Amino acid sequence: MNSINHIGIAGSGTMGRGIAQVFAQAGLAVTLYDVLPEALENARQQIEQALKSLAEKGKLSPEQTTEITGRIRYTLAPEELKCDVLIEAVAELLPVKQQLFAQFEQVLSNESIVVTNTSSLSVTALSAGLRHPHRFAGLHFFNPAPVMKLVEVVRGELTAPETVQKLVALVSRTGKHPVVVADSPGFIVNRVARPFYTEALKLAEEQVAGIETIDRLMRATGFRMGPFELMDLIGNDINYSVTQSVFQAFSGEPRFRPSRMQELKVKARHLGRKTGKGFYNYDK
Ligand SMILES: NC(=O)c1ccc[n+]([C@@H]2O[C@H](COP(=O)([O-])OP(=O)(O)OC[C@H]3O[C@@H](n4cnc5c(N)ncnc54)[C@H](O)[C@@H]3O)[C@@H](O)[C@H]2O)c1
Repeated sequence: MNSINHIGIAGSGTMGRGIAQVFAQAGLAVTLYDVLPEALENARQQIEQALKSLAEKGKLSPEQTTEITGRIRYTLAPEELKCDVLIEAVAELLPVKQQLFAQFEQVLSNESIVVTNTSSLSVTALSAGLRHPHRFAGLHFFNPAPVMKLVEVVRGELTAPETVQKLVALVSRTGKHPVVVADSPGFIVNRVARPFYTEALKLAEEQVAGIETIDRLMRATGFRMGPFELMDLIGNDINYSVTQSVFQAFSGEPRFRPSRMQELKVKARHLGRKTGKGFYNYDK
């Protein structure tokens, strides 16, 4: 018997809705929570569209599609998130996440595991004020969650080994590859990936080449997406916050310095695909 059967997800944006789809496809019950009704409605539409497209490709039968859809509940009520594992996927801001965890400690049982999908904040810092920090960890999915196979299982200083083992087993049930990493800024993937974005932004700022050219060149060398296309997919707000966190955590290490060009994109709300405009324009 698996003791983990119900996944709660706070935040139904790019990552939350993708993670919801992953667990529903793996046969688990999912409750997806957000503070914005329109975000939940958008998540529902995007998940249904993604499942429809899998069915059209013959990867899911009509019965499977109906079952998966039926496993996901959408809610604006935090008290409905009584679950075995709560996954937090809200804005990449420490106070926002801390406030959310404090709120959910009132709702969750003493056995529940709580995880953050943070890309760059310290898992240990996020767990510090909690009543059960040994049942707190990072579970870092990549975008798009239903497609990307790797998941970083981040072990904070206070995380119990048993929590890590349960999360590794949980990720394996979805068919993805869990990799256990220590709590270090950017973990492995986002630290290694930082220069991919920051050097590309510097090239564009110095007008060495235009963004289309840089993207085309990177694709020609074998990357699936160029850096500007990928920043637009990730969301410039998220990508910029991650660079800021990593820059601060490494005491202002110059190679991680956030870019002015991307900061302006964030200020203009040109966040990428999710707002219809970023480095490129997207028809909604
Ligand atoms: N976008 C990526 O490529 C990516 C990849 C890996 C990890 N992450 C991480 O995942 C997290 C979420 O990123 P995203 O891109 O999905 O963000 P997003 O902006 O697409 O979605 C965030 C959602 O959280 C909701 N929200 C905000 N405050 C809330 C609260 N208090 N309670 C419930 N819902 C709330 C918002 O309404 C929104 O729907 C961040 O920590 C980010 O670093 C993002």
